[in-house]
Amino acid sequence: MFITFEGIEGSGKTTQIKLLIPVLQAKGYECIATREPGATKIGHKIRAILLDGAHTSMLPLTELLLYEADRAQHVHDVIKPALSANKVVVSDRFFDATTVYQGYARGFDLKLVEQIHRLVIGNLKPDLTIVLDLPVDLGLRRAWQRIKNQSTSLREDRFEKEAIAFHEKVRQGYLTLAGIEPERFRVIDASRDQQTIHEDIAEIVLRNTI
Ligand code: TMP
Repeated sequence: MFITFEGIEGSGKTTQIKLLIPVLQAKGYECIATREPGATKIGHKIRAILLDGAHTSMLPLTELLLYEADRAQHVHDVIKPALSANKVVVSDRFFDATTVYQGYARGFDLKLVEQIHRLVIGNLKPDLTIVLDLPVDLGLRRAWQRIKNQSTSLREDRFEKEAIAFHEKVRQGYLTLAGIEPERFRVIDASRDQQTIHEDIAEIVLRNTI
């Protein structure tokens, strides 16, 4: 079973994945939590390049290809082996993020993005994708709070520096994808408290895993 979490900056994906894993384990599922970008040794370096706020001159094409490079390594090193071992894989972002951020928001042709995905992931698709949806201003406020609390010298804030309009496109992009593939996507109202969101997610995931 392959589950992905998507959403705008500050939507709470990471927190919700941390809460979900023990629920799955308590039900006897062996699971791994992973993320994009940055889940592999090589991906960790790619993530640093991608999210460094100092990289203001990065071309959209460079960005697109780096996300896909990270994903190629991630699929090969982490996702496929875990799925082959019958583990539940929970990923903080996957290919929908590229469709939305680089496609809907940056403006790359969606057909081109789809072609690259075919090359990078073949026919691998999540079984379930949870979209944590909330207003952009609320998400960004949370994201900036987290960045201010980061202890590392590298500030992962290149995307948070994008205009509100960019983040609106991202939010709408996810909602559009959810409308196109309602059988795979579940949209969750992420403006509520953590525990309520968690209960909703646990219920959906358990209903889909059993
Ligand atoms: P996150 O770890 O906070 O979710 O940060 C990853 C950032 O990278 C986030 O701003 C979304 C962005 N992103 C893309 O633009 N395209 C992608 O394919 C992925 C996986 C992430």
